Amino acid sequence: MNFKHNILITGGAGFIGSHVVRLFVTKYPDCRIINLDKLTYAGNLANLKDVENCPNYRFVKGDIADLGLMRQLFADFCIDGVINLAAESHVDRSIKDPFTFARTNVMGTLTLLQAAKETWEKRAEGFAGKRFYHISTDEVYGALRLTHPEGIRSELTGTAYGDDLFTETTAYSPHSPYSASKASSDHFVRAYHDTYGMPTLVSNCSNNYGPNQFPEKLIPLFINNICHDKPLPVYGRGENVRDWLYVEDHARAIDLIYHEGNVGDTYNIGGFNEWKNIDLVKMIIKTVDRLTGKEPGHSLGLITYVTDRPGHDMRYAIDSSKLKNELGWQPSLQFEEGLEKTVRWYLDNRDWVENVTSGDYLRYYDEMYGNR
Ligand code: NAD
Ligand code: TYD
Repeated sequence: MNFKHNILITGGAGFIGSHVVRLFVTKYPDCRIINLDKLTYAGNLANLKDVENCPNYRFVKGDIADLGLMRQLFADFCIDGVINLAAESHVDRSIKDPFTFARTNVMGTLTLLQAAKETWEKRAEGFAGKRFYHISTDEVYGALRLTHPEGIRSELTGTAYGDDLFTETTAYSPHSPYSASKASSDHFVRAYHDTYGMPTLVSNCSNNYGPNQFPEKLIPLFINNICHDKPLPVYGRGENVRDWLYVEDHARAIDLIYHEGNVGDTYNIGGFNEWKNIDLVKMIIKTVDRLTGKEPGHSLGLITYVTDRPGHDMRYAIDSSKLKNELGWQPSLQFEEGLEKTVRWYLDNRDWVENVTSGDYLRYYDEMYGNR
């Protein structure tokens, strides 16, 4: 079968990547979607069971930092576009092991850029019709101040905990090894645009939540702990603020930016949905207790204040007006609705959680694809 367009999606077995792969495979049957993933602890092909037999879907196990493999993939699959989601993504892990983050997030992205450049430059049409789209985070902008600890009403965001928002022109000021590695990769992507004329795009998104998120991040970790009556470790005083977006809304934004974004541009993606951690934790408890038939407030006693994360950014809040005004995107789900959907998914998919926390699935993939 001849495909109109061949898109390499990296990190497609992970949390956000699996939603992007599913959206593209089902929405664009005339495009071939190649999912390249190293299958680290965070990658799980069970996330893609429903699309794995689609004729326009291919999975390749591999590392984005492997230049030989990347060159071969670009040639074998005639890659026209890249959406780079492969990354090490957890701040706490980056504090313990920064090298792995530099290797995948920085060197891996640079390797992909170089493979794309070399391949596309050799083709008669050059960069025409090509796209290299890099997915990044709002954490590259650093931290906003918490000037309204109790929250104030805001026309734009509902409740705001500070006076400012991250925009596309906010200066980069990363603090954690994770955000430093993502900032570096974003700079490399823009450097390939400015230096070689590569048709690149970057988007910086706020915290995502939803099905398939590895239970090390706040929302799935706490849902799982509540189910097992385990403590809920709230860092510091629980005053830090994050801006939460349902993962399928992020996937829709990625689709729009990939197809209609202005080459060379950056787009901020966020839910205009700020939550103080402790309020969010109480809301998760309320939702899980209700859906599991426990007395209201039953699990509040699980909240345990623990030593703060080193360098813990106080507040993230994204201004996604550019994406709304230029491309017409906005979040489709209210937070309460999205959180309830998410809690229901984790309650209905306890096997998935058991598998990813027991390491069984890693052994299974080692047998299928060889040792990593
Ligand atoms: P994730 O950790 O759930 O998934 C990452 C995927 O990348 C996994 O499938 C993993 O196996 C794969 N991977 C890791 N190293 C690789 C390598 N060297 N080569 C090939 N594959 C590799 O991450 P996520 O939360 O889905 O995040 C995806 C992207 O979105 C990341 O770039 C992240 O920085 C960005 N992002 C995440 C959020 C969020 O809230 N999760 C918010 C904004 C941006
Ligand atoms: P996380 O989901 O790790 O995302 P990020 O650090 O990328 O924002 O954490 C979200 C917020 O929750 C962050 O302020 C740290 C806090 N947090 C806790 O208080 N306890 C936890 O166990 C975790 C994982 C996070």
